[in-house]
Amino acid sequence: MKNFKNKVAAITGAGSGIGQQLAILLAKQGCHLSLSDINEKGLAQTVELVKQNPITVTTKVLDVSNREAVKQWAQETVQDHGSVNMIFNNAGVALGSTVEGASYEDLEWIVGINFWGVVYGTKEFLPFIKQTKDGHIINISSIFGLTSQPTQSAYNATKFAVRGFTESLRQELDIEKSGVSSLCVHPGGIRTNIAKAAKMNDSLKSLGMDPNKSIKQFDKFLRTPPEEAARQILNAVLKDKRRLLIGTDARIVDSFQRLFPTGYQRIAALATKMM
Ligand SMILES: NC(=O)c1ccc[n+]([C@@H]2O[C@H](COP(=O)([O-])OP(=O)(O)OC[C@H]3O[C@@H](n4cnc5c(N)ncnc54)[C@H](O)[C@@H]3O)[C@@H](O)[C@H]2O)c1
Repeated sequence: MKNFKNKVAAITGAGSGIGQQLAILLAKQGCHLSLSDINEKGLAQTVELVKQNPITVTTKVLDVSNREAVKQWAQETVQDHGSVNMIFNNAGVALGSTVEGASYEDLEWIVGINFWGVVYGTKEFLPFIKQTKDGHIINISSIFGLTSQPTQSAYNATKFAVRGFTESLRQELDIEKSGVSSLCVHPGGIRTNIAKAAKMNDSLKSLGMDPNKSIKQFDKFLRTPPEEAARQILNAVLKDKRRLLIGTDARIVDSFQRLFPTGYQRIAALATKMM
């Protein structure tokens, strides 16, 4: 894709953080928007922030873990905009829990959003995006899709899964030469609402951690501004990159796990104990 002017982008989780900043930057570059989020208020705020641009903006309140809702949204996007070039599968949530202490309800909740949400968004939009012969699928994983962390087993599982899913998709798209590409994004700490919205449970106490303090500590690691993350993501789409790491923290952690694929786990465990 050479530029975003007069393209159509669909974004999940567009009511906050990285998704909201993607909407703002795309709007400034003349890209039409189909925005969705489970949070109606956040979505309305994003519309306020992009409405001065001469573009068409449509919105849908939906839960990305609802397959039927995502299917309908993809169809409505094409009805309303005529076509769609990009889907940013960005909506995501966090869960802090030990494996033993995680309820099946919470596990199904996070897998539903972080993994199935990405699968539904990809599969429901892909046939429409292919029709444009100039499209992109952007799936947001995490640095925790490359390295594991105590208390993050469920989040790790979903983000590793997004990585595997997206890299395989990219290989298929390359073989098909369909004009559609895909990118897997691995942000480090980005200053958004992700920590404040995270679920943390009392099982953390068995590792000597205080669940309330953990949210604050998690929040402290979120350094990169979301507008910078969005800028780098759009740049990577234009350069047709396969993988994007965002932030010095992400690059350091990635290098460390390559050099010490098992040793990094001991260091991460030690660091968690000291928190
Ligand atoms: N912030 C970080 O440090 C960081 C790091 C790595 C990866 N990520 C990933 O980036 C993505 C964006 O997160 P963010 O940091 O901007 O967080 P955020 O909390 O600011 O935004 C997430 C958005 O997703 C929406 N959402 C949550 N559940 C939903 C559902 N069921 N259906 C539809 N929308 C839903 C929320 O309402 C919110 O608007 C997530 O996938 C997250 O895992 C974030």
